[in-house]
Amino acid sequence: MGHNRQDTIIPEEKVKRMAKGSAAASFRAPKGVPEYVPPLSAHFQAVRDTLAATIHKYGYSHIELPMFEETGLFARGVGESTDVVTKEMYTFEDRSGRSLTLRPEGTAGVMRSVIEHNLDRGQLPLKLTYAGPFFRYERPQAGRYRQLQQVGVEAIGVDDPALDAEVIAMADTALRTLGLRGYRLELTSLGDRTCRPAYREALQEFLFNLPLDEETRRRAEINPLRVLDDKRPEVREMTEDAPLMLNHLSDECKSHFESVLRILDTLRVEYTVNPRMVRGLDYYTKTTFEFVHDGLGAQSGIGGGGRYDGLMEILGGQPLSGIGFGLGVDRILLACQQEGCVPGSEAHCEMFGVPLGDAAKEVMMPLLAEARTQGIRTDMVFGSRGMKGAFKAADKSGAVVALVIGENELAAGTVVVKDLRNGQQQEVAKTDAVARALNIIGCLLYTSDAADDLLCV
Ligand code: HAM
Repeated sequence: MGHNRQDTIIPEEKVKRMAKGSAAASFRAPKGVPEYVPPLSAHFQAVRDTLAATIHKYGYSHIELPMFEETGLFARGVGESTDVVTKEMYTFEDRSGRSLTLRPEGTAGVMRSVIEHNLDRGQLPLKLTYAGPFFRYERPQAGRYRQLQQVGVEAIGVDDPALDAEVIAMADTALRTLGLRGYRLELTSLGDRTCRPAYREALQEFLFNLPLDEETRRRAEINPLRVLDDKRPEVREMTEDAPLMLNHLSDECKSHFESVLRILDTLRVEYTVNPRMVRGLDYYTKTTFEFVHDGLGAQSGIGGGGRYDGLMEILGGQPLSGIGFGLGVDRILLACQQEGCVPGSEAHCEMFGVPLGDAAKEVMMPLLAEARTQGIRTDMVFGSRGMKGAFKAADKSGAVVALVIGENELAAGTVVVKDLRNGQQQEVAKTDAVARALNIIGCLLYTSDAADDLLCV
């Protein structure tokens, strides 16, 4: 039964009413959605880029995926008993009646794309990385948002503890590169389909003997592991002696986990084994981990991940293994603020042009274009500001150096190059202006194979 397009078109009068109903000045960003505007946006970007730069060093290729997918992908991939799927998804029908959902997480979408494009037919492991927004209808509070940003990775197709250790060490290195120290890495093994069913039964048997309330009992039936994550003190106390997955691992899972720990030791990555760790997504198997920051209050998880060895098959692909993580950029920025290691400069340029008059602009703009080809960020004064206003704009820009062209300089073919840090200035020939300014900025340009070809000394 097809949908009639007419049915789904919003009537013109309704659109008018919606537009009229809200006075222009009263529009606000949706509830629970953080916005990063200058100057904070520079720090947000620096956090995200620093995380991505570390990942880049481990041979990951970037993947850019849709922000919405068929609803069934998440129901099947993330797990129908999870809070994410039952309570937190932004699900809507499009104009043709398809059920679509704003992605609540990245792993299911990556798997869907890998299967659809046969990316798993080449060299394995397939290493993919992504960054962007995810959407969960959670109760907003500090550090818990309805649009959250992650930088994530997925390494697909090889079940090797060395890969687990590399993925975990990579996340740890990314966080340390930002200067963060006040977090801990917790990890455990959730076993696999050979040993988890027996453990699940043992756990259920234990739980069903407890005087649990109706709802908790139901949870014990659907997903008993989640009861171990219950924060209520009385439930905690009752489950203190509950059987733990770590004591029920198959020999293979046990030796896999021990290898991961051994390699982390050799890489000098510090960790705590937390056998009661419960993740909010159902696809995890074997190695599972979380980075927890102590300075963030209740929303302390700054990143998490693990293996998901059955996921690809569940989604219609080959039975390949996978491991990955998602680092929460919003919370990592909060952690950087808390530890006083916020990266990124608020200055929006290094060189600022002060052309006094329209004719001067025509000389100034090619000079700034030349500087940009040398990797320098530039800006200039626009409109018709006087000398005082123009210099105020130069100071506010955060630039290190200003190029000034007034009537005299225009006539003489010169430029005044001013060091904005100490006020010293020098008039030089127009052709020497950019070189002189670069000299003040203190940047030596050289070419190298490295991605950063600009070395500031
Ligand atoms: P997750 O633990 O649900 O894992 O999310 C990863 C990180 O995203 C969390 O540790 C947290 O920092 C951040 N995050 C999650 N929800 C919110 C929120 N409401 N507000 C702010 N930050 C939030 C995943 O999403 C998995 N896909 C990770 C993964 C990849 N596992 C294997 N591969």
